[in-house]
Amino acid sequence: MTKTLLVLGAGVQAVEGLRQLAEQGWYIVGCDGDGEAPGFAHCDDQIIASVYHAEECVPAAVTYHETQKSIDGVMCLAVDTPHIVARIAERLGLPGLPVEIADLAVDKIAMKSRFTAHDVPTPRFEAISSITELEAFADGSPDGVVVKPVDSRGSKGVSWVREHGGLALAFDHARAWSPSSRVMVEEFTNGPQLSTESIIVDGVAHTIGISDRNYEFLETYAPHIVENGGDLPSTLSDAEVDSARNIIQAVAEAFGMLNGIIKGDIVIHDNRAQVIEVALRLSGGYFCTYEIPLNTGASTVIPTAKLALGLPVTATELTPRFQRHVIQRYIFPIPGHVLSISGVLEAASLPGVAYSEIWAKPGDRITRPENAGGSAGVVMTCADTRDEALDAMRQAMETIKVETVPADG
Ligand SMILES: Nc1ncnc2c1ncn2[C@@H]1O[C@H](COP(=O)(O)OP(=O)(O)O)[C@@H](O)[C@H]1O
Ligand SMILES: [Mg+2]
Repeated sequence: MTKTLLVLGAGVQAVEGLRQLAEQGWYIVGCDGDGEAPGFAHCDDQIIASVYHAEECVPAAVTYHETQKSIDGVMCLAVDTPHIVARIAERLGLPGLPVEIADLAVDKIAMKSRFTAHDVPTPRFEAISSITELEAFADGSPDGVVVKPVDSRGSKGVSWVREHGGLALAFDHARAWSPSSRVMVEEFTNGPQLSTESIIVDGVAHTIGISDRNYEFLETYAPHIVENGGDLPSTLSDAEVDSARNIIQAVAEAFGMLNGIIKGDIVIHDNRAQVIEVALRLSGGYFCTYEIPLNTGASTVIPTAKLALGLPVTATELTPRFQRHVIQRYIFPIPGHVLSISGVLEAASLPGVAYSEIWAKPGDRITRPENAGGSAGVVMTCADTRDEALDAMRQAMETIKVETVPADG
């Protein structure tokens, strides 16, 4: 019988993933707080409820299950709600992460305490309740500190501070972004950073996606941490990439996680991986829906859905079929009001351009970015060699023009 899969999140970044899931022939029920969410176009049915509010989302899923159609599995897509997925799975007796494990991923102090208890390398950290505590921690951090909310996402409220003078502002910024008003600090850890995406099956981590994170704007937009895309496969050494794979395995063991998905933020410091954080869900920002399939021919979306439905996942599915080169970059125009946008269609048809999307519109106000969310669009290129992929990106970026005028002009 056709399986019914409940997917939390039907926003713009979920569209492609929902399309891939629908292609499997499952009955897809999308859930989103926005009744006009574009991903609903690929769903067989919909539940309108805020996916970020357990008190709204869980009862809505239970009611649907009891009165409309029996749900066989639940997952989230392009939303950071593993804790709500776990609660729905628990209520409906479906496969999924135990609530206790899912909750570790939405509280960075609980998560990192678990890492240190199991000797998983992670930058030194502390929960902070005053500027004095923050100053004391900063005194022992030669490369500066990262001040962040304990429970936010997408680099929102995260600052890299190298002077005592910047600590108070960073503290207030982080607190403003934390739903529970909790702030933490970490030692800034130097080194190249990787994004990883791994499927855990029977306790074994299969790391399918590994991307070098592009932080060319780290200095430009400091104290804010603005990621400007990523490159696959990683250009780091095999030993460094293996160290990243091994740390994800160590995280799965530290969490006692048997089946599920781990998205990792990893820094390679002195040739050895340290885990900044993990999310127990698929990545956003098109990593799982476009970049990993373009790079490897493998999917993390389908195995995640199969685990959610209690279906077997085969080793073949978890093995990259090839390694093509993928470059992804966000577009950051000069801040101001958008006057005109041109070259979008021409760029999309250039050889090597795999995907492009511009979300800025004429009249929009573009502010100085505080995270990748401050971008006007995204371009992805894919080719047999890294040079070709980089070249296609250069051409696409020259072709797309987002013209702005100063906001006060
Ligand atoms: N201790 C650290 N050292 C170096 N960079 C860090 C550190 N902590 C965070 N960052 C950078 O800031 C980004 C956002 O921080 P993160 O803890 O991942 O929060 P979020 O949940 O918002 O993604 C990370 O991806 C990383 O690039
Ligand atoms: Mg992160």
